[in-house]
Amino acid sequence: MKMALGKVSVVGIGPGKPEHMTARAREAIENSDMVIGYKLYVEQVKSLIGDKETVATAMGKEVERCRLAVDEAGEGKNVALVSGGDPGIYGMAGLLLQVAGEKEPAPEVEIIPGVTAAGAAAAVLGAPLMHDFAVISLSDLLTPWELIEKRLAAAAGADFVVVLYNPRSRGRSDLLARAREIVMEHRGEKTPVGIVRGAGREDQQQWETTLAEMGALMEKIDMASLVIIGSSRTYFDGGKMITPRGYRV
Ligand SMILES: C[S@@+](CC[C@H](N)C(=O)[O-])C[C@H]1O[C@@H](n2cnc3c(N)ncnc32)[C@H](O)[C@@H]1O
Repeated sequence: MKMALGKVSVVGIGPGKPEHMTARAREAIENSDMVIGYKLYVEQVKSLIGDKETVATAMGKEVERCRLAVDEAGEGKNVALVSGGDPGIYGMAGLLLQVAGEKEPAPEVEIIPGVTAAGAAAAVLGAPLMHDFAVISLSDLLTPWELIEKRLAAAAGADFVVVLYNPRSRGRSDLLARAREIVMEHRGEKTPVGIVRGAGREDQQQWETTLAEMGALMEKIDMASLVIIGSSRTYFDGGKMITPRGYRV
């Protein structure tokens, strides 16, 4: 008799605190037979895991985590593959679908959305994403830097609010400085910039600055930070960063 295939749920666990996780994400972890993830994310949800079989691995082992999840589902287990924020935004969802697509027979895959860092950081700063915005990752591990520069220039030139994920690539602290220079070719020095480190986590920090002055904060920005550069219409008021949608008030 053929063994029934299990299922892989790619679970978006949100930016940090358990209260920012969806009910579906919580349920998927609780109902799984096995949890797989990057060690920081597994730690984040350990109260939901209990004594379930768990595999927590290091950064850079993404393909191996997906292969293991698919193989274990092939053995009949229901696997929760945890992914920070939203799994479909620089997360594990795409890779899992690619890996699952190569498996015959392929297990069922469910993608469970989560609160992405942009939404969490925007809420901390105020309402900077009320109008069109572009999301760009400064990580050049999987994307050539020339393409990242092209996208930065296009987004800045089209007056999008620009959200920078992965603002400090490992070992390349100069990328953010270069990104700032590119945006400054299109935006005024006083353009508001909001920075949030560890949005929705216990150690959350935030800074409000401008394009001209953000250089002084470079050392504080790391891989747990998100940078939001305003459009020409974005402003600070009462400590809140606001991009007006266009309503008359
Ligand atoms: C590989 S991406 C993963 C994004 C994730 N899938 C999401 O939807 O938020 C990692 C980057 O997301 C941003 N990030 C993730 N969690 C964050 C948080 N709690 N606060 C600020 N930025 C965060 C940082 O820029 C970090 O370098």
